[in-house]
Amino acid sequence: MTKKRVAVLISGRGSNMSALVEAAKHADYPAEIVAVIANKADAGGLEVAHLEGIPAIAIPHRNYASKSEHEAAVCAALVEAKADIVCLAGYMRIISPEFVAQWEGKMLNIHPSLLPLFKGLHTHEQALEAGVRVHGCTVHFVTAGMDDGPIIAQTAVPVKTGDTPDMLAKRVLSVEHETYTRALALVAQGKAVMKDGRTVFSD
Ligand code: GRF
Repeated sequence: MTKKRVAVLISGRGSNMSALVEAAKHADYPAEIVAVIANKADAGGLEVAHLEGIPAIAIPHRNYASKSEHEAAVCAALVEAKADIVCLAGYMRIISPEFVAQWEGKMLNIHPSLLPLFKGLHTHEQALEAGVRVHGCTVHFVTAGMDDGPIIAQTAVPVKTGDTPDMLAKRVLSVEHETYTRALALVAQGKAVMKDGRTVFSD
């Protein structure tokens, strides 16, 4: 089996990145993590990746005069890493349509809600405000619309009486890691493919 080469883009602690790294240690997992890139020099996940022996670099957006120059630097790093797939994992930058187009069908994101509900930030507050009884996470292909691409995998969790946004966030995070691992495996094996704006599943 040829493993797909995966780069993970992060902005913070990188617990989803760590979950993918753990999964990829298994011989039968169809992907390997070849690079971790953060847009912030102090992203905690960089150190974690480094300790795992994975090339981990910061490409701080603040060091670039424009969004396009920053994205060009990130793209160059992805090409240098020979990445086949890019996983956004808590990457707090809106990706330009040009960048998205270069990675169409090969860029994944995890969002902490059951899309299409609760796009954007503060999803747990949004869920509590709406009064939903189930909440969860979604892994989807990245398209030009924010949190808008074809869905690959979702997991639901209950909303419990008395939940605070933090309590709900923890419960959702506890299922994010497995959901991302499963979704990446489907894409790496070619069992989930983006076609005509939809995810097509096989097998
Ligand atoms: C996760 O909740 C993810 O769904 C969202 O940002 C958070 C990142 O957490 N996009 P981590 O850095 O993976 O721990």
